[in-house]
Amino acid sequence: MSAKEIITVPDEILKKISDPVEKIGINEKKLIDDLFETMYVSNGIGLAAVQIGILKRILVVDVSTKDEKNQPIVLINPVITNLSDDTSVYEEGCLSIPETFIEIERPKICEVEYIDEKGSKKNLECDGLLSTCIQHEINHLDGKLIIDHLSKLKKDFIIKKISKIKKNPDRIVV
Ligand code: NI
Repeated sequence: MSAKEIITVPDEILKKISDPVEKIGINEKKLIDDLFETMYVSNGIGLAAVQIGILKRILVVDVSTKDEKNQPIVLINPVITNLSDDTSVYEEGCLSIPETFIEIERPKICEVEYIDEKGSKKNLECDGLLSTCIQHEINHLDGKLIIDHLSKLKKDFIIKKISKIKKNPDRIVV
């Protein structure tokens, strides 16, 4: 397994809809390992396959804190089956949108059906950070990003800012 480069805006692939996974073979297993490796190296709590350039409906999450044991979860072909009326607000970042945080209100609780890495059908009720994280990642599978919650003006501003950062690869942070 190896950490991959994370694709950032304005790459058009991030707007594409990912395809359902038909079977979990050796390629999918390698992809899952790469996703975890890439997510942990980047200090993220979730990563969708499209963010490393693979349009498959696979995502990984781990919302454990530093002091806790890792709690890796793989969700293949996830479908949200229920959303609460209650909402919560988190300041969300995204590994595909550097240096950007946006307050987003989402349903507080969600129920999600998915296939795990062994091919078993699972059902998970999530609350709090896990709920927000899974909704954020499922949005990725449908080509939707956190900046899509903003006005066009603000969205264009952020994309321009990030494009400028990308044009200066010599810039370093120490
Ligand atoms: Ni993201």
